Amino acid sequence: MQETKIPRHIAFIMDGNGRWAKKRLLPRKAGHREGVAALRRMTDECEKAGVGMVSFYAFSTENWTRPQEEIDALFKMVKEFADKYLDEYVKRGLRIMFMGDLTKLPPETVESLKKIMISAKDNKGMIVNLALNYGGRDEIVRAVNKIISAGVREVDRQVLSDCMYTAGLPDPDVIVRSSGEKRLSNFMLWQAAYSELIFLDEYWPDFDAAVFKKILEEYSKRDRRYGNVRRTD
Ligand code: FPP
Repeated sequence: MQETKIPRHIAFIMDGNGRWAKKRLLPRKAGHREGVAALRRMTDECEKAGVGMVSFYAFSTENWTRPQEEIDALFKMVKEFADKYLDEYVKRGLRIMFMGDLTKLPPETVESLKKIMISAKDNKGMIVNLALNYGGRDEIVRAVNKIISAGVREVDRQVLSDCMYTAGLPDPDVIVRSSGEKRLSNFMLWQAAYSELIFLDEYWPDFDAAVFKKILEEYSKRDRRYGNVRRTD
């Protein structure tokens, strides 16, 4: 029997909320609402399994081209999520972090996120990382600009890593994307160098304990070699 390997860091590209809703003749907003429920389920599953860090791609730098009504609804949901559940996560000892340019988000959403960041700062549990107005290329450009501003004249991988949102944290061992699309869509480009990629057909709102089990099984089968030869060769 295959031994179950638990990733230190698992990252989710949450896709298919719109299609999930369309299939049920519901508005896209209903899909996102179920998407939030799936995010909570996956957070619980990760914590139970002993994962150290979980990242969710909630809003990309490209998502601003969506209808304004959908954008407004999404940020309202993020605020509600922060007010209602993140607080509970903080009490459970989870660490909460955000990556992306939060300055473009509605001020009331940022206010709620900031409160959470402050109250979770001394926690020691699993890290929940939400990518909001995040783009992998923007993150790299931001890192380079930070380096230039600091007057550094020569860089190496470590210097760049230290300027990413995830400085000091593990790269994702596995990135999971829902709903059948097979691409990274500008997610964690720097950190994904050696991540296992798992693409599942299920729409994001359908992610539950059974899907999570399937992810761990698939991940456990992968032979991670980091450019090395197979360990048994
Ligand atoms: C992709 O589905 C999903 C998104 C762009 C948004 C994901 C957001 C959430 C799950 C909720 C908000 C997040 C938090 C942190 C509370 P899609 O709309 O592109 O689906 P489609 O490709 O089927 O249209």
